Amino acid sequence: MADHIPYFDLPAQIRAIRKELDQALARTLDNCSFCLGPDVAQFEKEFAEYCGAKHCVGFNSGTSALHVAMLSLGVGPGDEVLTTPFTFVATSWAISYVGAKPVFVDIDDTTFNINPAWLDKAVSPRTKAVLPVHLYGQPFDVDAVLNVCRKHKLPMVEDACQSHGAKYRGKTIGTFGEISCYSFYPGKNLGACGEGGALVTNNPDLAARAKSLREHGSTKRYFHDEIGFNYRMEGFQGAVLGVKLKHLPNWTAERRRVARRYSECLKDTPLQLPREADFAESVWHLYVVRHPRRDELKKFLEEQGVGCAIHYPIPLHLQKAYAHLGHRAGDFPVAEKAARECLSLPIYPELTDAQIGRVVEAIKGFFK
Ligand SMILES: Cc1ncc(COP(=O)(O)O)c(C=O)c1O
Repeated sequence: MADHIPYFDLPAQIRAIRKELDQALARTLDNCSFCLGPDVAQFEKEFAEYCGAKHCVGFNSGTSALHVAMLSLGVGPGDEVLTTPFTFVATSWAISYVGAKPVFVDIDDTTFNINPAWLDKAVSPRTKAVLPVHLYGQPFDVDAVLNVCRKHKLPMVEDACQSHGAKYRGKTIGTFGEISCYSFYPGKNLGACGEGGALVTNNPDLAARAKSLREHGSTKRYFHDEIGFNYRMEGFQGAVLGVKLKHLPNWTAERRRVARRYSECLKDTPLQLPREADFAESVWHLYVVRHPRRDELKKFLEEQGVGCAIHYPIPLHLQKAYAHLGHRAGDFPVAEKAARECLSLPIYPELTDAQIGRVVEAIKGFFK
């Protein structure tokens, strides 16, 4: 059998920048700032610039950043937050952690993102915020969501955990809402060598509150203004992310090359291909195709040595953890259909045209 094509090739990425990483990590070993410190501060400055934002606060994960976003906006018990049922579960965890209720709004069939047409109807007197996700690297329809937010005077938090540097109508996402949250989980477009996350905002008060909450609710050592958390970013992760951020524009261009090539080569197959909305410049965190025989296709591709994955097999409203919300199959039919049909193909900057050719051949072989 020809070489296995992994679903994601992190070793190839690390190999390519190993020297730079070694130097950066050695610097952290020398300065011994293992929790926050100068490497994190420098990365925060650079990532804020990258997002076109005034402030970036580094966290130990995207989940922590989202949690603190909810707290900073005063979301609490009895409140409702509108979000998508088709995302990684950490999006709605943030809502649940503060005792609020996630209220799901179904997605758009072609973009997998929240459908703003149904947002307005989901607003209730208890709605406190809106938390949509820029899924798979593609921005949601920001203006349409903001229209509803403005009408009801609701803050918007962007879950940008999968979409570092994506553009909406030509502008980098990150400052359309009050707060944007990022994940630097190793498999993300910008990934740490471990866990990491960030909260980005233009609002100095929200940034200050987030900084305090990530550090035990304190701005002065051993003085605690409110109940806080140990959500600090590690010095090593700041150092790694500083190195990787310099490569991100090039990596994004390579991801876009891979996506373009898939879209050209697969256009005559029975697959439903992912499409960039006319307002979006996706960073292609994932390339997700759809087909009713998804499970058979996945098995076939794996037998052919092509790695693939499912993001996500069960929408949030049908997860056991959310059984208490009382949802049933059929409540969000667009998300449920997407969960049955979606299949993520290998996509990463290092994927060669020859490897893409092998993936395409394997897919065509399935439909022959
Ligand atoms: C959409 C989305 N939200 C939130 C998260 C949580 O980020 P983390 O894994 O860094 O906690 C992730 C990634 O895992 C994600 O993909």
